[in-house]
Amino acid sequence: MRILVLGGTAFLGRAVSRAALARGHEVVCAARGSAPVADGAGLVVVDRDDPDGLAPLRGQRWDAVVDVSRQPGQVRRAVAELTADHWVLVSSANVYARFDHLEQDEDSPLLDPLADHVMPDMSRYGEAKVACEQAVATTASWTAVRAGLICGPGDDSGRLGYYPWRLAHPTGADVLVPPALDHPVAVVDVDDLADWLVTCAQEQVHGALNATGPTHRLGDLLDLAREVAGSDAALRPVPAEVLADAGVEAWAGTPSLPLWVDDPEWRFFSTLDSSRARAAGLVTRPLRQTLARALAHEQTRTTPRACGLTDEQERVLRRRLDHHQEDARA
Ligand SMILES: NC(=O)c1ccc[n+]([C@@H]2O[C@H](COP(=O)([O-])OP(=O)(O)OC[C@H]3O[C@@H](n4cnc5c(N)ncnc54)[C@H](OP(=O)(O)O)[C@@H]3O)[C@@H](O)[C@H]2O)c1
Repeated sequence: MRILVLGGTAFLGRAVSRAALARGHEVVCAARGSAPVADGAGLVVVDRDDPDGLAPLRGQRWDAVVDVSRQPGQVRRAVAELTADHWVLVSSANVYARFDHLEQDEDSPLLDPLADHVMPDMSRYGEAKVACEQAVATTASWTAVRAGLICGPGDDSGRLGYYPWRLAHPTGADVLVPPALDHPVAVVDVDDLADWLVTCAQEQVHGALNATGPTHRLGDLLDLAREVAGSDAALRPVPAEVLADAGVEAWAGTPSLPLWVDDPEWRFFSTLDSSRARAAGLVTRPLRQTLARALAHEQTRTTPRACGLTDEQERVLRRRLDHHQEDARA
C-alpha cells in the first residue's frame, strides 16, 4: 500500500510510519519537518496552517491517509483536496461529553463539534476532535480512532513513565503517590496503537472506535511499576488536601502526581470500552511491558519531564506530609 501520514515527525505518527514500513508498505509523511521521520519513510514538507499548504500533495492518489491533526480546518482541507481510498483519523477519548462511568462505549454522547477551523487552545481539544471526526466521516471509507492515554517509548509527557522512573530514583525511603489507589486507569502502548492504525488502513475498518488497554487499579499499576523498577521503596499516598495546599496537580503538569483525576466528573476519563477495536484486531501488550518501555524512555530522556515531581519538590512535599501527619496525631 501507499500510505500518506499527515504528521510523522512526532511520537505516534512516527510509530505508525514504522509499523507500516515493517509490513512492507510505502510511507510518505507530510509535515513541516520539525523532527526526522522514521527511517525508510519519505517526507514532503507542508505547512497545513497555510490555506494552500497541501499543494505539494495534490494530484496523487493514496491507498490510505493517516491524519494526527487536532485542527478541524486542516482535516477539512485534507479531505477536500487529497484523494485516498481510506482515511484514518487519530481522534481521542476527549470527544466524549462526560466521563462519569467506567469504560464508556462509542455510542456515548459527544461534545458539540468546533465550528471554527482553528482550535483556539487545548480547552477546546475535544470539540476540535469531534469536528475532525465529522470531516473524515464525509468520505466513503474512514476510521476515527478514539485513543486513550498513549504511553511507551517516545512519550515525552511522561505520565506513565514518571512512576517507574521515580521508583528507580527515590528521594527517600518512600515514593509519594496519589491518594486514590482505587482510581481506574488505562493506557495504550504507542506501538500497539500504531500497529492497529495500520490494520485499520489495510482492512478499511469503518467507523469510530475506542482504543485503549484494559482498566487497572492505580495501586496495581504502581505495584507493577515498583517491580519493573526493581525498587523496594514504599508507596506513600498523599491526601488530596495536602496536594491541594502544596499546589500539586492531578493527572499531568508540573508539579503533579500523574494518572489520577481528583474531579469526580472526570474520574473515568482514561477508561474506554475498546471491545469493538479488539474485535477489529487491536491487540494490547501487558501493562508490565509498557511500564518497562516507558521506564527505558525516561532513563534516556533528553527533554524536561512534563509531569511529576522533581527531587526537590518530592522532598518538600514529603516534609509537608510528615507535618500534616504529626498534626493529625497531636
Ligand atoms: N498523547 C496522548 O496520550 C493522546 C491521547 C489520545 C489521542 N492523542 C492524539 O494522538 C495523536 C498524536 O500524534 P503525534 O504524536 O504523531 O503528533 P503530535 O505530537 O500531535 O504532533 C503533530 C504532528 O503534526 C505535524 N504538524 C503540526 N502542525 C503542522 C502544520 N501546521 N503543518 C504540517 N504538519 C503539522 C507535526 O509535525 P511538524 O511539527 O514537523 O510540522 C507532527 O508530526 C494526536 O492526534 C493526538 O491528538 C494523543
